[in-house]
Amino acid sequence: MGDTSIFREIADKIKNARKAVVLTGAGISKESGIPTFRGADGLWKRFKPEELATPWAFERNPKLVWEWYAWRRGLMHDKKPNKGHYIVAKLEQIVSHFWLITQNIDGLHRLAGSKRIIELHGNIWRERCVSCSFRRENMEVPLKEIPPKCPQCGSLLRPDVVWFGEALPTDALNDAIHHSETCEIMLVIGTSAVVQPAASLPVMAKNQGAFLVEVNPESTPLTSLCDVSLKLKATEFAEELEKVL
Ligand code: APR
Ligand code: ZN
Repeated sequence: MGDTSIFREIADKIKNARKAVVLTGAGISKESGIPTFRGADGLWKRFKPEELATPWAFERNPKLVWEWYAWRRGLMHDKKPNKGHYIVAKLEQIVSHFWLITQNIDGLHRLAGSKRIIELHGNIWRERCVSCSFRRENMEVPLKEIPPKCPQCGSLLRPDVVWFGEALPTDALNDAIHHSETCEIMLVIGTSAVVQPAASLPVMAKNQGAFLVEVNPESTPLTSLCDVSLKLKATEFAEELEKVL
């Protein structure tokens, strides 16, 4: 693998940072066996986002949308975090002010031990009522009832995830922006950086002088902005960084 000097530089910047932020996308879970969205075998090659991951799709056919999420939950429930998730959890122990901002809904960062997580797009293991404030974690696989009903008011429950056309949870987004604007280093791992507003967070970090590192086997719209762009898989990066942390 590449010379360790660049990893040593990244490790030093992380250790000396007052605040470090990591932004992750589906690519960090790829080596855990969870498909990405836009890669060669990505989910959006087989399903149409507008038919499944939108409030209108849910309104039109809640059963179909729930069947798709039940299928994805079935895919995810036995998957384990990989070295990429674990190194991010380890960084949280090293840096005094650390935040993980993830676009992923698979829950693998939590399983790997990350605590300071901002789940920008929600979490597939949580469901919430379309009418009242009821919300719960539900790890059932398979789901007993599709579509599930709210035990409090009887309305439909929906996956507690962000769909296309929906606003992100306000607190999560505000916190993510705040940390992106006040960190000294941001690692961007496994995202195609095309979905807003997540894709703007690294730009905000760069604009205020953060050292920007991308980990992605492919180039993305962010690559030219980064101080370092490592054409590596998340686990390869984790192995190299582990050596010098
Ligand atoms: N390690 C690191 N990166 C990888 C790996 C790997 N092993 N394998 C693939 N990648 C990269 C791909 O090159 C791609 O750039 O991960 C990225 C995955 O991109 P997407 O599939 O677009 O996933 P993501 O960026 O998380 O999508 C953002 O779009 O559909 C919505 O809400 C959904 O959160 C998702 C958002
Ligand atoms: Zn309800």
